[in-house]
Amino acid sequence: MNENAKKVMLSGIQPSGDLHLGNYLGAIRNWVARTDEFDNYYFMADMHTITVRQTPADLRRRTLEQLAQYIACGLDPEKNTLFIQSHVPEHAQLGWVLNCYTMFGELSRMTQFKDKSSKHSENINGGLFTYPALMAADILLYQPDYVPVGEDQKQHCELTRDVAIRFNNIYGDVFKVPEPFIQKVGARIMSLGNPSSKMSKSDPAGCVFLLEKPEDILRKFKKAVTDSDTENCVRYAPEEKPGVANLMGIYAAITGKSYAEIETEFAGKGYGVFKPTVGEAVVEMLRPIQEETRRILADKAYLESVYRAGAEKASYIASKTLRKVYKKIGFVAR
Ligand code: TRP
Repeated sequence: MNENAKKVMLSGIQPSGDLHLGNYLGAIRNWVARTDEFDNYYFMADMHTITVRQTPADLRRRTLEQLAQYIACGLDPEKNTLFIQSHVPEHAQLGWVLNCYTMFGELSRMTQFKDKSSKHSENINGGLFTYPALMAADILLYQPDYVPVGEDQKQHCELTRDVAIRFNNIYGDVFKVPEPFIQKVGARIMSLGNPSSKMSKSDPAGCVFLLEKPEDILRKFKKAVTDSDTENCVRYAPEEKPGVANLMGIYAAITGKSYAEIETEFAGKGYGVFKPTVGEAVVEMLRPIQEETRRILADKAYLESVYRAGAEKASYIASKTLRKVYKKIGFVAR
């Protein structure tokens, strides 16, 4: 198939914390599976990360670790464009333009802004507020067909579509209007400690990090919340037993087994057997990823060659869109 005939996919993850099982099973693993079918752009959203105060050395380390983990998880940099957002200045440039086409009222309705401003009340900065305009720029620069995101980013994707449509209505067809692509299987890995909220780095006890030590992972699974009844039976009932359902979801995502098969496997065995078995499956799945990540991180020259080539390719596409936008809005060409 001709490269241009492929649909374009784009997504990003903020290097605001270490990658975890939810990022892998819910996102990165699916990106890997779609490598050949789509023309893919995946980036470290470091410019978004500074909307919340960061320690510079940690941001730098996590950005590179995130790239190494993308590759270790199987994202082939020869087939996917992997880059660091701040290396491609067109994001900031189009971000400014789109700020001028995004309404105060729209930004005020973003639930992530409301959440983050209540969590960081000492630092409600302009960037936190206008973040969705930068995200719209991230997306629209590459004219993607699909944007694979979690449920929590759906609202930002809707806003991106609205901004693209608004812009196109004024200036003609400049942007492709992308579809969000919400993954069903493994889309929502919940916290091991609190199965009613999504697995998140902000709740480390319920979160399994990709680079975490095997003994720590096992300990977290042994302590995972199952249910409050005393049934002690592995049965898929997400309403009644959300903790058990979450563990079954993780086990299913790793082994490819159906819920019925998992129920049969653990019939009469109880949580004392089930929880460590799921933990072991996670440890075994992560073992090669951890080894590969360490190997890549030790090879600085390789990592550098990947992000340089990625930025170059991304910038080539992004600059074409930006040039078109600048021309349409009336900026004088340099
Ligand atoms: N806002 C996303 C998040 O916090 C990260 C992100 C930034 C993103 N730009 C993007 C995701 C563009 C998809 C497309 O998870």
